[in-house]
Amino acid sequence: MIKFDFEKYYEGEVDKETFIAYSNSVDRARSAFLRENNSNDWYQFDQLFTETELQEIERTAEYVRQNADVFVVIGAGGSYLGAKGMIDALTPYFSKNDLEILYAGNSLSGEYLSSLIEYIQDKEVILNVISKSGNTLETRIAFQALYKSLRSRYSDEEIQRRIIITTDSENGELLEIAKRLGCKRFSFPSNVGGRFSTLTVVGLFPICVAGIDIRSVLDGASCAKENKREYYKYLAVREAMYAKGKRVEVFNVYEPKLGSFLEWVEQIFAETQGKYNKGILPVPMVNTKKLHSLGQFLQEGTPIAFETSIDIEKNSDFYIERYNHYMDTMNSIALKSVAKAHHEQKRCTGIITLDEINPYNMGYLYAFFSITSALGAYMQGNNYADQPGVNKYKEIMKQQLNI
Ligand code: PA5
Repeated sequence: MIKFDFEKYYEGEVDKETFIAYSNSVDRARSAFLRENNSNDWYQFDQLFTETELQEIERTAEYVRQNADVFVVIGAGGSYLGAKGMIDALTPYFSKNDLEILYAGNSLSGEYLSSLIEYIQDKEVILNVISKSGNTLETRIAFQALYKSLRSRYSDEEIQRRIIITTDSENGELLEIAKRLGCKRFSFPSNVGGRFSTLTVVGLFPICVAGIDIRSVLDGASCAKENKREYYKYLAVREAMYAKGKRVEVFNVYEPKLGSFLEWVEQIFAETQGKYNKGILPVPMVNTKKLHSLGQFLQEGTPIAFETSIDIEKNSDFYIERYNHYMDTMNSIALKSVAKAHHEQKRCTGIITLDEINPYNMGYLYAFFSITSALGAYMQGNNYADQPGVNKYKEIMKQQLNI
């Protein structure tokens, strides 16, 4: 269950009339979005898969769990961030016996890659390489290096069973490699951009490998899509804040397991809305850690930000006798104390409360932020699906590297 409060700590800063005015512009953006995207797969959370396709994901995930000690997800940006966010949120901090899930292809660190190769050399490994374009540099380099390491110890037949490629079904170098190797292949939906792909096979397969109930994730996402009231309110306050000159939205979590999820939130808002000299800079903040650093600036520094905080009602039974409180309660009190203190300085905070971190609630949150980032881009008159800046830097880098 999820509750939204975009009122209490906005009081005095956004009045009812403003809310209504911006709700009308959300309505117009939504109509335009639906007109232009009615066949857009990522948004149809209840129609993304047939039963056979879901079973195929579950069966392949089970195969990975039975045959690997380490599962490496190779991908950059939207090709891995969503899955990592969900997996970190829904698996234990420390676990001795479970399949280990590692990531590669999201940096150009030679040290990381060589350490990873050394670390996995005496373990049973399965790779999932994910790239829509099939030619992202970091992904290609990591795949090449890990493939070489696997080749030195597995037969051709075994390699076939240890590489799973998620890429476009018609184009790209990765598709050619998949065909040549004859390995298992999942299709990256052609009309879905990386950051919107978490709830398609792109993200759901690694999420399923982690043992997470992907059907509940999809149920939560479908519910978010129907719950218009909440995302209308959220978009209305964002617009009101932008009109008041706020240029930063800080996303707070008070459970560090949600830190990776915030990296996906950061990506979806940055790439979807930050273009043509417009947009609100998303800043992830994991607390209470950052209360001892950024917190000071947010409370009393240049007033450029508003905040969205995610509260978790129940995550563990850890009880602190000395203070006579459960830690979850203390965490919630910390969150609300900060929201109150900031509000006293005319800084606004919206609060999203989860009864607990579970697959359904996480599916809900992914759908909620996917929808609101896309509609927000429509409200700005921007194309929500492209990332021209990223493409440009990739082009310049390839020229510089002469590749
Ligand atoms: O969200 C996006 O579209 C990007 O972040 C891409 O996911 C990222 O650049 C990786 O691209 P590709 O999947 O083509 O390797």
